[in-house]
Amino acid sequence: MALAVVDLIFTRKIKHRAIHVLILLTGLAVQTQMAVTEAQNLGRTRHYAPDQPIKFSHKVHAGQNRIDCKYCHTGVFAGKSAGIPSPNLCMNCHFVVKSGRNSGRFEINKIAEALKTGKPIEWIRIHSLPEYAYFNHSQHVMVGSVSCQQCHGPVENMDIIYQYADLSMGWCVNCHRQTKVQADYNPYYQNNKKLQELVKSGKLKSLTVEEIGGLDCMKCHY
Ligand code: HEC
Ligand code: HEC
Ligand code: HEC
Ligand code: HEC
Ligand code: HEC
Repeated sequence: MALAVVDLIFTRKIKHRAIHVLILLTGLAVQTQMAVTEAQNLGRTRHYAPDQPIKFSHKVHAGQNRIDCKYCHTGVFAGKSAGIPSPNLCMNCHFVVKSGRNSGRFEINKIAEALKTGKPIEWIRIHSLPEYAYFNHSQHVMVGSVSCQQCHGPVENMDIIYQYADLSMGWCVNCHRQTKVQADYNPYYQNNKKLQELVKSGKLKSLTVEEIGGLDCMKCHY
């Protein structure tokens, strides 16, 4: 763009002004596009993968040793947060497994150290929605039967975990438009005669999260 401006005013090597105008307009469009994208991503932390105080690997635990996500992230059974396991839970296994293949005793020792001194392990939080947005794990995992991987990606292959989705409103809402509610085994929906009649009569083609109100502003902002 700078070259086009210089040529337009001083050097005048290119005869047709239309070419200068074209370069300037295209450049401006690309930069506006970049500015809009960056503005939308302000405050979002996709791909964030900070260094953690203990080099904990999901690949070793959830991948190679096939430990269920819910064994450590017990919050998903009943609550809003998935939660991070306490050192006591780590010690269920590391009381016996005292050294690892990659880091020997060094990293695992830190767990026992934390318990002995009572000083908590200061894990750095990766995923964090703004305060004005409400999200509930048990509603998605237990009621909606959405798998962890649909939102968090192939965690069992990650040595260092990172934020997989952008956690934008568009991401939430698009999934609510496309995903069907698990109505078959859920007594709440089986007892809901009004909904069943709507589906039977063909007025509702399919029961998506959108149909049960998953696009209402107040479900996520209140
Ligand atoms: C042995 C226990 C254990 C198992 C099993 C486990 N995790 Fe974790 N998880 C942790 C610990 C400890 C952290 C915090 C350290 C870190 O971020 O690496 C964590 C962090 C996370 C985070 C990031 C939290 C944040 O700060 O935003 C996500 C997401 C996650 N786990 C998902 C999963 C999923 C999905 C599975 C199953 C495929 C799983 N975890 C299995 C212990 C476990
Ligand atoms: C259900 C059992 C189990 C639990 C719970 C568990 N681990 Fe492990 N952990 C293992 C096994 C098995 C290994 C692999 C040892 C090896 O390298 O063969 C391991 C390895 C490790 C290693 C070394 C990795 C390497 O390759 O050097 C670290 C560090 C570690 N765990 C941290 C943790 C932390 C922190 C927690 C609690 C959040 C935890 N573990 C909970 C079973 C467990
Ligand atoms: C529908 C999408 C979705 C599914 C399914 C999901 N998560 Fe999350 N997860 C999120 C969002 C969004 C956040 C950020 C929540 C916040 O900041 O309030 C998050 C945060 C987390 C965190 C860190 C903060 C916390 O809540 O403790 C962990 C750990 C986690 N998820 C683990 C899991 C595990 C394990 C599963 C499967 C059992 C799972 N998630 C299923 C969307 C999902
Ligand atoms: C991978 C798909 C998926 C993503 C991504 C997702 N959801 Fe959902 N959500 C669901 C499903 C499925 C249900 C229906 C659960 C049920 O049957 O009640 C649901 C239900 C909800 C409900 C209850 C709606 C109602 O009418 O009862 C809220 C609130 C909600 N989600 C918030 C969020 C927020 C906030 C995000 C983004 C941070 C999000 N969801 C991302 C699949 C998703
Ligand atoms: C399924 C959940 C969900 C629903 C439904 C929803 N939102 Fe959001 N909204 C979010 C999440 C999550 C964020 C924050 C993440 C982001 O976009 O950065 C957000 C962010 C916002 C923001 C701030 C945008 C910004 O960039 O600062 C506004 C304003 C907003 N929503 C308005 C609305 C309105 C109005 C409606 C109804 C038409 C609505 N939302 C419905 C989940 C939802």
